[in-house]
Amino acid sequence: MRTKLSLDIENINIANQNGIETFVASILRREVLSLSAYHVQDSTGLIKLDAMENPYAWPETMVDEWLEDLRNAKVNRYPDPSSDRLKAALRTSNNIPETANLMLGNGSDELIQIILMGVAGDDAVVLSPQPTFVMYRQIADSLGLKFVGVKLNEDDFSLDMATLSAAIAKNNPKVIFLAYPNNPTGNAFSGEDMLEILRIAPGLVVVDEAYAPFADASFMSKLLEFPNLLVMRTLSKLGLAGLRLGFLAGHPAWISQLDKLRLPYNINVLTQQTVEFALANQSVFDGQIKQIKSDRELLASRLAHLPVKVFPSQANFVSFRLLEKEATEVFTKIKNKGVLIKNLTPAGGALLNCLRVTVGTPYENQVFMESLTKILES
Ligand SMILES: Cc1ncc(COP(=O)(O)O)c(C=O)c1O
Repeated sequence: MRTKLSLDIENINIANQNGIETFVASILRREVLSLSAYHVQDSTGLIKLDAMENPYAWPETMVDEWLEDLRNAKVNRYPDPSSDRLKAALRTSNNIPETANLMLGNGSDELIQIILMGVAGDDAVVLSPQPTFVMYRQIADSLGLKFVGVKLNEDDFSLDMATLSAAIAKNNPKVIFLAYPNNPTGNAFSGEDMLEILRIAPGLVVVDEAYAPFADASFMSKLLEFPNLLVMRTLSKLGLAGLRLGFLAGHPAWISQLDKLRLPYNINVLTQQTVEFALANQSVFDGQIKQIKSDRELLASRLAHLPVKVFPSQANFVSFRLLEKEATEVFTKIKNKGVLIKNLTPAGGALLNCLRVTVGTPYENQVFMESLTKILES
């Protein structure tokens, strides 16, 4: 017997765009249809300072050793579904408490999705300070969850604790995301405020430490104290963005439940083997991070001589507000000079007239600073 669906398909005139779009819309969820796709800027031929990547490649000898190591990679087999060796290496390099368990994701983006899939339904609320990393809202929206954004203080992007506590009491959020340091503002919130949120939160608090390599503080050791805390990190900002690896550390009770939502082979053979290799060469990354942190301070102090307000950063980027010129125009002019940064103005609110630049190599930072200075002087 023919189903209604197959009859509809046969009746679609593929040449008629409206026909197929109506059909697609009749199948997919409302939340999916109203979502805007996450847009990645085309960086072809440009100095890429838009996505908080580490600008440094590996020394040639390390590349040779890596390629040698990959000779025995068994790409004809499925990867280790639990990535046990890699987890052991991550535990050591990230000081993860012994009592905490780990779950790995294809980037921390996937982990955000897994957490939110776990709480989806029943009018569940996801709460986060605003502005922050856009994927919390994007993924909440895609799953039909209610997202509540609570504005940060506009002058220094610190947490507005009075408003935040009231919003937590009113909305009873299942999950609170705190990016620490925060993207795109660059600051790490006050540790005292974060502890207060952990105390008053009625549900899960995820502290997203994507920028941990560049920051002075962490909540990793607080996992022992707060069973409602999960700490999430990524290897992307350290210098392995192309491998896509993030991890979630927390009480075994959380991890064993959430792990049911993880697809069995989400971390591929090459990523498992390469990250293990990279972590055995930690000193190379330590050197790169030291350089990036020192260049961040240099970049911020040079920016401070221009008519801009610079926001203090504990990450590998610096955000700033233009005081005299219009950000979108300046962004386009910098791009025309061959440097891609991030225009934060479209996000609106406290980010109006703001730009964000990733710390690149000294040469890249120099090209950026010269372009910006010329544009602001013109
Ligand atoms: C705060 C924060 N969390 C998570 C991510 C995503 O990291 P991943 O590359 O591991 O998906 C980013 C990326 O910019 C970020 O800024």
